[in-house]
Amino acid sequence: SQHQWEAPLPTDSRGPCPGLNTLANHGFLPRNGSNITIPIVLGAIQDGFNFQPTTLMRTVAKLGLLTTDNADNFDLKGLALHGTLEHDASLSRNDLAIGDNIHFNATVFATLNNSNPGVDYYNVTSAAQVLVQRLAEDSLINPNLTNTIKEFTVRIIESGFYLSVIGNVTTGVAPKNFIQIFFEQERLPLEEGWHRSDVPIEDDNFNNLTDAIGEAVTEWEPSGPIVCPWIRLQ
Ligand code: HEM
Ligand code: MG
Repeated sequence: SQHQWEAPLPTDSRGPCPGLNTLANHGFLPRNGSNITIPIVLGAIQDGFNFQPTTLMRTVAKLGLLTTDNADNFDLKGLALHGTLEHDASLSRNDLAIGDNIHFNATVFATLNNSNPGVDYYNVTSAAQVLVQRLAEDSLINPNLTNTIKEFTVRIIESGFYLSVIGNVTTGVAPKNFIQIFFEQERLPLEEGWHRSDVPIEDDNFNNLTDAIGEAVTEWEPSGPIVCPWIRLQ
C-alpha cells in the first residue's frame, strides 16, 4: 500500500533523524527525502505519528530550514549540519568529530539498547539515565564535545520523541522491541503491534513528558568548550 515500508535507494536523502527517516521510508514524507517544506513535514508527523503541528514542532521544522540555503525546503541529509539541530552525544549516531554523525551506529546505540535491564520497556527514568550515560561516554572520546543548555534541551526533546511516538505519550513507556526496530531499521513496527498514538501528541502532553525526563536527570552540568548556545546557519 501507499505507506508500506521500503528501504531507501542509494540516491535517496536520509539523515541523522530516525523519526523523519522512518516517515520517508513509509512514504509519509517524499521517499527521496528531498524538497521538504514546513507544511509537508508538519503534515507527515500528523499523518504518520498523530503528532500535532505544535509550537515545538513548528519551531523544530523552522530550524530544519536553517540547515539549507533553499528558500522554503530542506532535505534529510542536510539536517546533519553540526550545531543547528545536530549535536554531540546522540543516542544512535557518532559525534561529527569522531566520524559519522548521520548513519545509525550499533555501538553508540548499545547504551540505549541495554538500558532498563530486566524489563521489556524503556521509560522516563531509563531515558534520563541514558542521556547522562551517553554524555559520560562521549566526554571520554571527544574532548571538544559541545554540551550547553541548548544541546541538553534538544536531547531531552528527542528522548520524548521516541517515548511518545513509539511508546505512549501519557505513560512515557515504550516497548524495547519497537524502539529497536525504529532505530535499527527506521521502520514502524506495525506487524509487531505498534499503532499510531490514539491521543494526539500536542504541546501539553508532550511538555509533561519532557519535563518528567528533565526532572529524572539527576545531574547535568554544561561541559566542553565554553560556548554560548548557538545556532549554525548554512
Ligand atoms: C534526532 C531533526 C522530528 C525523533 C534528530 C536530529 C535532527 C532531527 C537534525 C539529529 C540530532 C542528533 O542526534 O544529533 C528533526 C526535524 C523534525 C524532527 C527537523 C521535524 C520537523 C522528529 C520526530 C521524531 C523524531 C517527529 C519522532 C520520533 C528523533 C530522535 C532523535 C532525533 C529519537 C535522536 C537520534 C539520536 O540521538 O541518535 N532529529 N526531527 N524527530 N529525532 Fe528528529
Ligand atoms: Mg548527533
